[in-house]
Amino acid sequence: METIKSLKIRLFGDPVLRKKAVSVRKITDYHRSLLDEMLKLMRSGSGIGLAVPQAGINLAMIVVDIGSGLYKLINPKIIKRQGRQVFEEGCLSVPGICIKVKRAKKVSVKALNENAEPVIIEACDLLACVFQHEIDHLKGRLIVDYASFFDKLKIRKKLEELKKLSNKEPPPAVCKLNL
Ligand code: NI
Repeated sequence: METIKSLKIRLFGDPVLRKKAVSVRKITDYHRSLLDEMLKLMRSGSGIGLAVPQAGINLAMIVVDIGSGLYKLINPKIIKRQGRQVFEEGCLSVPGICIKVKRAKKVSVKALNENAEPVIIEACDLLACVFQHEIDHLKGRLIVDYASFFDKLKIRKKLEELKKLSNKEPPPAVCKLNL
């Protein structure tokens, strides 16, 4: 078990960001403290969503807070998608980069809360976007995977720089949505 207190946000190039997250079988105090620590990490980066693998721990858990209520979800899955929308998304693991991502406008998310109770959340607009972004992280998928041909040309150099950063100070976020 890793020391929860020393968690930091992993950056593009770190292999943990490309792994499929493992489902949590039994929710314990470890998972609850991990979620609390994730919230601190998310807020310290002015983020509105964060997936646990972004902190280097390969478990299927996310935290989301867009200002309308806090969600701490375990083993979240999208069970319904409707409509289309596009947001310019940033990611705390890919700082300095902003990508327009087409996603569903409405989603239903099935998960467990931190007390191991099943919940279903109906989300639309920004909240739906954030859930889809965080659940993508659990599949090893990042915003750069949605980049258009021209986006790819634009961000290529920045991504190379990010890969070399590892322990140095990451660039500041440039996007309004940091997920
Ligand atoms: Ni992200």
